Amino acid sequence: MMRILSLGWIRFAKAGRSENSIIMADGKKQATWGGRFSEGPAELMLRIGESVSFDQRLAPFDIQGSQAQAAMLAHVGIITLEERDAIQAGLDAILAQIKAGEFTWDPALEDVHMNIEQALTLEVPAAAKLHTARSRNDQVATDMRLWFKSACDELDLSLAKVIAALVDLADQTQGVIIPGYTHLQRAQPVPMAHHLLAYVEMFARDRTLIAAVKEQANVCPLGSGAIAGTTLPIDRDFVAKELGFVDDEGKPQLTQNSMDAVSDRDTFIQFASACAAVGIHLSRLSEDFILWSSAEFGFVKLPDAFTTGSSLMPQKKNPDAFELVRGKSARLTGNLQMLLTMVKGLPLTYNRDLQEDKPPVFDSFDQTKLILDCVAACLPGVSADVKRCAFAVADPALLATDVVDYLVKKAIPFREAHHVVGALVALSEQLDIPLNKLPFEEVSKIHEALGEDWVQAFDLEKALAARDKPGMPGPDQVAARIAHWRNV
Ligand code: ARG
Repeated sequence: MMRILSLGWIRFAKAGRSENSIIMADGKKQATWGGRFSEGPAELMLRIGESVSFDQRLAPFDIQGSQAQAAMLAHVGIITLEERDAIQAGLDAILAQIKAGEFTWDPALEDVHMNIEQALTLEVPAAAKLHTARSRNDQVATDMRLWFKSACDELDLSLAKVIAALVDLADQTQGVIIPGYTHLQRAQPVPMAHHLLAYVEMFARDRTLIAAVKEQANVCPLGSGAIAGTTLPIDRDFVAKELGFVDDEGKPQLTQNSMDAVSDRDTFIQFASACAAVGIHLSRLSEDFILWSSAEFGFVKLPDAFTTGSSLMPQKKNPDAFELVRGKSARLTGNLQMLLTMVKGLPLTYNRDLQEDKPPVFDSFDQTKLILDCVAACLPGVSADVKRCAFAVADPALLATDVVDYLVKKAIPFREAHHVVGALVALSEQLDIPLNKLPFEEVSKIHEALGEDWVQAFDLEKALAARDKPGMPGPDQVAARIAHWRNV
């Protein structure tokens, strides 16, 4: 898989040139779009117009697209086989130069596409034919679809690592029972493993979201031209196959409307949305660990390597990694919002606004990968504080619902049973005696169905073992889920 994080390709030409032309191998200038203009763009036009500062990371995909374009042009006889070979060798050399950090990017050439075409044209005369039947509009759409496919593969790997780390921690905490919370109030006991496995379910759903984005990206827009295709005898199937835009049977997948193909940004939005979903899940997980590591909860200890101290208070150990994950996830929802807003009022087809589509998706990718990898690396260093968990879960009120179930099993209607246990809880508060320690003569006055065996409802182990249906926190169910996640 191609690495798509920026490789630090930040060499820029010093003074931007201000013509919109490409210099040919023989030193002559050839207008790109500058043919009809009498003067070059203003300095500020160059500044607002350049995208190479952020789209240079598309270079490997742009080159891949151009390799396929050259192959297709030769296949249909628009260029010769020698011209194809010269173009492809030239592109290989440029990619090597870019990866070595030796390529000079010129903002006056606007974007990654023009920079690469210029560099190629200087070396290879036949490069002047490469853009035949192609526009930057279908070129950028193609580059981004290739990028999305690769980005989805990387995020899927990172998600799988987080899932594996959570399953490992769940495995270690099957026997650590903590209070589960609703409204951030103690509710019912659960194994810490069950709580952690809730996040595994979320991240597994996120993997399906990412897979759906990849599938949506897997359609080739090349050949759509600027808006209305071309009159030249191109072979769209050929180029789609070359680029791997194929279904499971190897059948090429092509966009079916040239106007949609150059202006559609749905995949950008779906990608940003999937990243936002991952971010929300990571943020909630972080919030749980931040709470759990506080002195008030004390359920877990976080690894030193992912926490920081205070410059003033020597005792502090702050959960910065999880706080930053929570903070960065806000960027992911922001990026999605930006894309939705950018696209909503645009008339068909391509509008230059669409150049702004890339910073948010690149940022969503970078931040999502970073926070996933950070969480996956931090989790193995997290340990449960067994004593503090046992102390918290010893609160008998956590099993009040089990007393209700005890009464229901004695044929008391649920509503009545709930009311009876409510009265027991009130009594326990009034007498300041733990629920399970209330004197039986007081308890028996509240309802005749309460026998001396009512205290058995407070047996934590039995209470959990009874929760043995699919999805419940009983030990067998939790163990089965751990085994399940180890095998997918
Ligand atoms: N850099 C441009 C972008 O990302 C490429 C497309 C340019 N097309 C155009 N009609 N100016 O949107």
